[in-house]
Amino acid sequence: MTLLQAATDVRLRAYAPYSRFKVGAAIRAASGVVYQGCNVENVAYPEGTCAEAGAIAAMIAAGDTVIAEVCVIADSPSPVPPCGGCRQKLAEFAAPEVQVTLCTTDGAQKVMTVAELLPGLFTAAHMDRT
Ligand code: THU
Repeated sequence: MTLLQAATDVRLRAYAPYSRFKVGAAIRAASGVVYQGCNVENVAYPEGTCAEAGAIAAMIAAGDTVIAEVCVIADSPSPVPPCGGCRQKLAEFAAPEVQVTLCTTDGAQKVMTVAELLPGLFTAAHMDRT
């Protein structure tokens, strides 16, 4: 199964009764295993979680820690970009050159790297004072 197919499939299972905006994300780990995630909203709106966060949680729970490739899809007018928080979450487990394919359900795609998505990211080095 392609990463796009995995993201497309899981998007249909998103729980988005408030925004009505379903998002699917698929991550291929360095091991080759594909992990899926969808957004899961909550009536207490800030408690909702993004598709990317779900896919990352599935990856970590399964024992993988290195992201090799990402695909995100939504029914949006232009290829859906990860939110700011998800960019930082992806950068925790993906090298700067890792490709993130942003997709629409209409077939539009845009490929970006993690570095392009999050220039100037916060890293552990920013906590070094020695
Ligand atoms: N959403 C994601 O799941 N991923 C993104 O990268 C952008 C936004 C979700 C969160 C919320 O459930 C809905 O889309 C509208 O913001």
